[in-house]
Amino acid sequence: MYNIGEIKLKKFTDGRGDLTPVEGKQDIPFEIKRVYYLYNVGAGIERGKHSHRKLHQVLVCLNGSVCIKVENTLETKSVLLDDPCKGMYIGPLVWREMYDFSDDAVLLVFASEYYDENDYIRDYDEFLVEAGELFHE
Ligand code: TYD
Repeated sequence: MYNIGEIKLKKFTDGRGDLTPVEGKQDIPFEIKRVYYLYNVGAGIERGKHSHRKLHQVLVCLNGSVCIKVENTLETKSVLLDDPCKGMYIGPLVWREMYDFSDDAVLLVFASEYYDENDYIRDYDEFLVEAGELFHE
């Protein structure tokens, strides 16, 4: 799916537990400039509901589970993140919504750029216009 993909992260397991490393441009396709995480998200809460113009992100659910719905104007799909080794890549001009956070969910996000409110498209109709231009140039 355009600008959306699954990234399988490595896992080193021994008698002491599991370890997953994430290196920019090695394990994920960009240099990491920012990391943030969502947690203590209440039942029934939906987050996201925006797109980015230039930002690349990889989402990993470190604990618990969360559903991510993505749309690129051509296709829509929902992905369950419930494994700390499963990364979800979301590139520019993809609408995303996060929902069904389990009580114990911790959603980690690696981002390619510093926080920039101007990179957000928070209006769905505006997203359809900007993303639609990608496929009708
Ligand atoms: P918001 O974009 O509403 O979160 P979500 O899309 O997950 O629902 O962000 C919530 C607040 O956090 C908002 O005031 C902006 C701030 N924020 C930062 O300061 N830096 C960041 O890297 C992010 C992602 C958000």
